[in-house]
Amino acid sequence: MSAKSSSPPGGPNPTDQANPSRGGRFETGPGEVMERINASIEVDRRLYAHDIAGSKAHAAMLVRQGIISREDGEAIDAGLDKILQQIEKGEFTFRASLEDIHMNIEARLEELIGEAAGRLHTARSRNDQVATDLRMWVRDALDGLDHAVRELQAALITQAEHHAATVMPGLTHLQGAQPVTFGHHLLAYVEMFGRDRGRLADCRRRLNECPLGAGALAGTAFQIDREATARALGFDRPAANSLDAVSDRDFALEFLAAGAIAVVHLSRLAEEIVLWTSERFGFVRLSDAFTTGSSIMPQKRNPDAAELVRAKAGRILGALAGLLAVMKGLPLAYAKDMQEDKAPVFDTADTLTLCLAAMTGMVRDMTVDADAMRAAAAEGFTTATDLADWLVRALGLPFRKAHQITGRLVRMAEEKGCGLADLDLAQMQSVEPAITAELFGVLGVEESVASRTSFGGTAPDNVRRAAAAARERYLR
Ligand code: ARG
Repeated sequence: MSAKSSSPPGGPNPTDQANPSRGGRFETGPGEVMERINASIEVDRRLYAHDIAGSKAHAAMLVRQGIISREDGEAIDAGLDKILQQIEKGEFTFRASLEDIHMNIEARLEELIGEAAGRLHTARSRNDQVATDLRMWVRDALDGLDHAVRELQAALITQAEHHAATVMPGLTHLQGAQPVTFGHHLLAYVEMFGRDRGRLADCRRRLNECPLGAGALAGTAFQIDREATARALGFDRPAANSLDAVSDRDFALEFLAAGAIAVVHLSRLAEEIVLWTSERFGFVRLSDAFTTGSSIMPQKRNPDAAELVRAKAGRILGALAGLLAVMKGLPLAYAKDMQEDKAPVFDTADTLTLCLAAMTGMVRDMTVDADAMRAAAAEGFTTATDLADWLVRALGLPFRKAHQITGRLVRMAEEKGCGLADLDLAQMQSVEPAITAELFGVLGVEESVASRTSFGGTAPDNVRRAAAAARERYLR
């Protein structure tokens, strides 16, 4: 950052008259504190490419409409190209005294091409300009995130195919419930991330209306062609109402909301990885690339990346709550409060991108201890439901009755300190005389998962089919 003011804190800054937005209205520059609270350049400089694209489309339209001359249009266009190059080469000096990316570029354009630069801002305002820039930025972010979520889905589907028949404990209340397959468990996340992609796509569809030409708030008296600029910038149509176009940020809120839900999904998976890699579970081993050591305990392999994904969810949830709070009491139309929209949007895009990359890497590289999973799957009488179901099927008992009998058998096994399958037939018959040896055929965890063939169920054959369907649906 250049242009450090030498004026006393809070006092006027008479040396700086460079900001074109102050025009002839002011006698002195802003106070130092005013400048600091007002400037957004450190944040919104990331909009530079979109700002330049928007300006080029606007200038071309002004020429076509006969609002500015062809020569001026060409000078503006060439100047903007030059500025883009300079920024990308790191040769551009961003100045806080010029507030934001829009004024920084406009001021530089004037240095480059002189007075013609002053014609660019005809029939537009920074209010429609910034709303257009940010929509385009979010649109690109949505496309990038869609791709990143898809990569994660691909990693999950590949692991699910490998582990279609790997039996693990299915938990409710974090307690052994019924055996499931690891592949089935991973495909649950593929569905969640599929819906996340749907939310990103919805957000993209709704945001794709162009504010440019709404002016400060009321539209413009110049004969502009909003259809043309909208089209040139990849929008589906111009935004219908000028007040709405400059003063609503629901596209940013939707982006943050979709991001918040996605990061909650990531955080849940991260939590499971933390559990699975702990020695209590011992189900999963992360690769060295996604594990950290301890500075004191040489034996440690810590799942820091998973823990950080879990924690970074907090930032994104905070970003959503923060921007909702910024917007909630704003009267129409634009207010400077809205300048605070960019930091949470940028941070959410960056955070989500990093979390997705980390999660994709962890999932892709992780190895599974199938024996440990299988052994744990049998703990906690997890085939009790299979036993009850057998009583319904083979003996024709009502399910409630079967539930009660099974409960007594579980208690018996618990007292004897053994599993359900370790009870002998006589012990079983002491609770329900009609039980036959056939019952033992449903008490194994493999038999349990293999029997769950209902649509969407955990049977290995289902999982193979579901993985193929997910590949087709999400990765095609
Ligand atoms: N930097 C401003 C923002 O991000 C641009 C719009 C400024 N408009 C204004 N009327 N001061 O919101």
